[in-house]
Amino acid sequence: MATAGGGSGAHPGSRGLLRLLSFSVVLAEVPPLLAWTFFVPSTRQQKQGDKVRIVTCGSFNLIHSILAASINGDTGVIHVVEKEEDLQWVLADGPNPPYMVLLDGKLFNRDIMEKLKGRTSRIAGLAVTFSKPNSTIGFSPSMQCPNDGFGVYSNSYGPEFAHCKETLWNSLGNGLAYEDFSFPIFLLEDENETKIIKQCYQDHNLSENGSAPNFPLCAMQLFSHMHAVISTATCMRRSFIQSTFSINPEIVCDPLSDYNVWSMLKPINTSGTLEPDDRVVVAATRLDSRSFFWNVAPGAESAVASFVTQLAAAEALQKAPDATTLPRNVMFVFFQGETFDYIGSSRMVYDMEKGKFPMRLENIDYFVELGQVALRSSLDLWMHTDPMSQKNESVQSQVEDLLATLERSSAGVPDVILRKLNQSQALPPSSLQRFLRARNISGVVLADHARSFHNRYYESIYDTAENINVTYPEMHSPEEDLNFVTDTAKALANVATVLGRALYELAGGTNYSHTIQADPKTVTRLLYGFLVKANNSWFQSILRQDLRSYLGDGPLQHYIAVSSPTNTTYVVQYALANLTGKVTNLTREQCQDPSKVPNENKDLYEYSWVQGPLNSNETERLPRCVRSTARLVRALSPAFELSQWSSTEYSTWTESRWKDIRARIFLIASKELEFITLMVGFGILIFSLIVTYCINAKAEVLFIVPREPGAVSY
Ligand SMILES: *[C@@H]1O[C@H](CO)[C@@H](O)[C@H](O)[C@H]1NC(C)=O
Ligand SMILES: *[C@@H]1O[C@H](CO)[C@@H](O)[C@H](O)[C@H]1NC(C)=O
Ligand SMILES: *[C@@H]1O[C@H](CO)[C@@H](O)[C@H](O)[C@H]1NC(C)=O
Ligand SMILES: *[C@@H]1O[C@H](CO)[C@@H](O)[C@H](O)[C@H]1NC(C)=O
Ligand SMILES: *[C@@H]1O[C@H](CO)[C@@H](O)[C@H](O)[C@H]1NC(C)=O
Ligand SMILES: *[C@@H]1O[C@H](CO)[C@@H](O)[C@H](O)[C@H]1NC(C)=O
Ligand SMILES: *[C@@H]1O[C@H](CO)[C@@H](O)[C@H](O)[C@H]1NC(C)=O
Ligand SMILES: *[C@@H]1O[C@H](CO)[C@@H](O)[C@H](O)[C@H]1NC(C)=O
Ligand SMILES: *[C@@H]1O[C@H](CO)[C@@H](O)[C@H](O)[C@H]1NC(C)=O
Ligand SMILES: *[C@@H]1O[C@H](CO)[C@@H](O)[C@H](O)[C@H]1NC(C)=O
Ligand SMILES: *[C@@H]1O[C@H](CO)[C@@H](O)[C@H](O)[C@H]1NC(C)=O
Ligand SMILES: *[C@@H]1O[C@H](CO)[C@@H](O)[C@H](O)[C@H]1NC(C)=O
Repeated sequence: MATAGGGSGAHPGSRGLLRLLSFSVVLAEVPPLLAWTFFVPSTRQQKQGDKVRIVTCGSFNLIHSILAASINGDTGVIHVVEKEEDLQWVLADGPNPPYMVLLDGKLFNRDIMEKLKGRTSRIAGLAVTFSKPNSTIGFSPSMQCPNDGFGVYSNSYGPEFAHCKETLWNSLGNGLAYEDFSFPIFLLEDENETKIIKQCYQDHNLSENGSAPNFPLCAMQLFSHMHAVISTATCMRRSFIQSTFSINPEIVCDPLSDYNVWSMLKPINTSGTLEPDDRVVVAATRLDSRSFFWNVAPGAESAVASFVTQLAAAEALQKAPDATTLPRNVMFVFFQGETFDYIGSSRMVYDMEKGKFPMRLENIDYFVELGQVALRSSLDLWMHTDPMSQKNESVQSQVEDLLATLERSSAGVPDVILRKLNQSQALPPSSLQRFLRARNISGVVLADHARSFHNRYYESIYDTAENINVTYPEMHSPEEDLNFVTDTAKALANVATVLGRALYELAGGTNYSHTIQADPKTVTRLLYGFLVKANNSWFQSILRQDLRSYLGDGPLQHYIAVSSPTNTTYVVQYALANLTGKVTNLTREQCQDPSKVPNENKDLYEYSWVQGPLNSNETERLPRCVRSTARLVRALSPAFELSQWSSTEYSTWTESRWKDIRARIFLIASKELEFITLMVGFGILIFSLIVTYCINAKAEVLFIVPREPGAVSY
């Protein structure tokens, strides 16, 4: 990483020597929680993420900070850019480059980023403030054609549908998240932090009549160390060779991976495989989202609304009196990593083909997927189907059946009108596409949009609760909010009812269709937990005790990580267990090992010892054993299983490792700065020569230290 300059921070009461050099005054301690991402998409399959922690400057000593600054810090004079004109100073006029640009969120768009990219020598880094562009403009750092090339359409199969030729699904996408920037970009989520930085800038910019400001200037330094790797193939190959031949391998990147969550309406033997004539209806949706910034992925419309709806449908269906005697079984599946070229669904298809999953593709009769469903205009819910597989008449007639069943199911539900699309329209980006690559399954994707997405903040930091109108009256306690039924929850519950009834009929049920009814209260609690406050009484009561800490006080971030299962995966699994499972009277020991209990079987069920609700005193919890079919199954791209690191068939996203990321602000003096940079340059040269010499001399001793534990997320 290029050294942008030198700077230092020292304690106000530090020794005379420092004062003599008149270098720096510690200005402010900025509290933590910044994040930046660093993407190197020179091959599209690369993703690297980061998170910044701002440190207390007081404890820094001079040598340490200069070294840090020169080795892996990016330092620049802060310049606040709130209007496009302010950029002129950064790009051309300002006499003290490099600058650390504090960019207003509204200006974080392609045009401006192109300009900054053209002048990288003048830019040390970019801090973006959280400020939502209005919805007529929208903001999506994703591609206009998400996951292009990894779906079912290609130049050789349905070329007229490939590359979103007829519909740009995410028409607002600017692709920034897939762009390579040579300077760090991070997010200032916290308004107080932003204020402190702006204050520092205002106190010290002092450019009367537009001339150069006087020293000292306010500067910001970002410490980061990221293993720079060119591409997934390079880095995996390097890691592979290292781990084969080295006792102490240095791993520089990890494949993105997590777990899919799945459950069956009727329990199946997970140690065996279904018989070929066991028929299954699959209900699928996705769990994850992303944004430009690492681990900031609220995904309200792009993921949460859909999986919440599916959870509610699963609950409603399970309550049907004849649920366990239906001719067909129903599988609920929540795919992880779909954002990154369909990691979860491609893995499940792969496992099904290889017989590594209790079910096979041949068992699937129907496939119903929920796309984005929360932003319906005028009650319409669109049924998207695949034109290619319907060229086969038997598939087409099955799809017709499927659509007719869905339409029938919606007849009794207010406020949901199912609409057919022109049969020659391609499927939107969806997990179903991965299944269709392997087999012509009759499937449908339900979505709130007929053509391009209604979501104007697709896969961005602004796809929050507010984006789908989940808001609460003021002056409510968290407990009241948890149970407050929002309009969005009512609307989604209706969608869940339609889905539940359709699945019931597709599974061959006839008698109780009209009694299936999703509970708006379930939907609203789930929305609250995933989008507003995960640490609520309900989520606490349904989780295992050791997972307590997975519930933060804010919304959950639905980002597939390298350390897994992630918060979302666990919470969805346990919510599914709560909604579809049963409380048993097993003791704690029996719950952990039910093999000795008659009528209990680990092949069929998953048992978990959950915290349970508080007692009437609110002093203790009443733990219990919940039996369900909600399980996890690995979602790691088959490319890594097969060591095909430059695969074009499977997702090959990796995340590079990093260490210790933080930032701080301080004042710098000018001429000294250059002088010191030079001095430090020499110093480091000499120092590194000595160090290299020492390391060489002592290599055997030094390199047996265990490798840095999970320089990975959290
Ligand atoms: C910002 O600071 C104010 C006053 O110090 C405090 O009340 C508020 O909670 C802080 N906001 C955040 C997001 O930390
Ligand atoms: C410096 O800060 C002052 C006070 O906020 C502001 O009015 C002025 O425009 C700033 N100067 C520059 C060059 O940004
Ligand atoms: C700023 O302008 C004032 C009058 O307009 C002038 O007296 C002063 O010298 C200028 N300052 C600088 C730094 O150019
Ligand atoms: C599940 O399948 C395995 C392997 O076929 C078998 O050993 C086991 O008894 C089965 N369990 C049940 C409950 O049927
Ligand atoms: C969200 O709320 C706004 C204002 O209350 C309303 O205009 C809009 O139609 C709502 N959107 C949805 C999808 O309900
Ligand atoms: C149509 O699909 C069915 C199975 O779905 C298959 O048996 C049949 O051979 C296909 N027909 C053609 C013409 O490809
Ligand atoms: C469907 O779309 C095709 C091509 O876009 C068009 O020719 C056809 O008329 C449309 N059919 C209907 C029923 O709208
Ligand atoms: C699906 O059907 C189409 C058209 O009938 C055929 O070209 C394609 O090969 C089939 N796909 C699979 C995976 O069997
Ligand atoms: C996710 O879980 C980790 C590990 O327990 C926790 O530290 C973190 O705060 C959680 N994240 C959120 C967004 O709740
Ligand atoms: C689900 O959670 C609710 C509320 O905590 C509780 O009353 C119910 O018993 C739970 N059900 C299961 C099966 O765990
Ligand atoms: C649980 O309940 C069943 C009957 O519902 C009973 O046979 C069994 O003994 C109970 N087990 C325990 C541990 O209480
Ligand atoms: C309520 O708390 C008291 C003491 O704090 C305890 O004696 C009593 O058993 C508790 N009641 C319940 C229902 O747990």
